[in-house]
Amino acid sequence: MSSAPILDPSDAAIARAAAALLAGELVALPTETVYGVAGDATNADAVARLYAAKNRPSFNPLIAHVADLANASREGVFDERAYALAQHCWPGPLTLVLPVQQTSGVCQLARAGLDSIALRIPAHPVAQAVLRAVARPLVAPSANRSGRLSPTSTSAVAEELGDALALILEGGPCRVGVESTIVAALPDQPLRVLRPGAFDIDMISRIAGERACGPEVGQEERVIASGQLSSHYAPDASVRLNALKAKEGEVLLGFGPEAPADAVNLSATGDTTEAAANLYGLLRQLDDAGAKTIAVMPIPEEGLGVAINDRLRRAAAPRD
Ligand code: TXA
Ligand code: MG
Repeated sequence: MSSAPILDPSDAAIARAAAALLAGELVALPTETVYGVAGDATNADAVARLYAAKNRPSFNPLIAHVADLANASREGVFDERAYALAQHCWPGPLTLVLPVQQTSGVCQLARAGLDSIALRIPAHPVAQAVLRAVARPLVAPSANRSGRLSPTSTSAVAEELGDALALILEGGPCRVGVESTIVAALPDQPLRVLRPGAFDIDMISRIAGERACGPEVGQEERVIASGQLSSHYAPDASVRLNALKAKEGEVLLGFGPEAPADAVNLSATGDTTEAAANLYGLLRQLDDAGAKTIAVMPIPEEGLGVAINDRLRRAAAPRD
């Protein structure tokens, strides 16, 4: 099957994307974290098609993306903590899990039948333009087949899902490079980070005025989607963590100035922000070059290193 066209985000292309979405089709769009495959969150047929295209277990709920806080407030119930986080972090790489509002238009299937909803206002101008044009929430999981590396470029999107999409909007390389920080703010429960990302737990705690807990390794799956494998975000190659050098038959993914000069390096200066932006693209590059095992040098648990290590542990987890 032929792959969807990759369009520069002109007004005409945004209008074409909006029309396709309103007709129940799927469109890939850039966000500041990773590329998403968007579908109309209010249309259960579109959401079912999206789950099928990704081959995603339908008990794993999706994030509803909206244009602004007024729209978000129609979908979820914000307590003071959630409101403070929304004010400070949106638009941006934060997802809030909140009690679902009675007025929510997001279909049950997108929420996997839960009484909570995951909401995000992306900062990328192309995502914003599409959300304004459709004037309804869009689910937008990462535009990869389930369990694989998230795409941070349109060529990666085309490789993953090209034949299932109406079109792909060009937005350049993703600035952040790893998925949004997910924080649950639910009644009578402590604030909980379900997935680490660009906003780290100290920032979340400070902004919300409450010490947030988590995440432990695999917590997201245990709490939300029990029975799911912790293997996720994985290249075809196997992954070995905390490698000091490549063994026979391995290729090294370096980090920092200690890496051998000829190694592919996430950040030669040891900058975790730069490493996050390079992570999925370099894993994909080594994978495409046919590496059997990717040996990854240690990455410090600071800044975006927490999110990088979370994704790498899943990439290295046993596969079934
Ligand atoms: O950065 C991102 O968030 C990207 C970009 C494209 O926006 N999107 C993304 O979506 O990563 P996705 O579908 O790949 O990740 C959704 C995550 C899943 O881990 C799911 O378990 C969690 O959000 N989630 C969704 N609804 C939830 C809920 N009600 N409670 C807890 N977790 C939820
Ligand atoms: Mg994903």
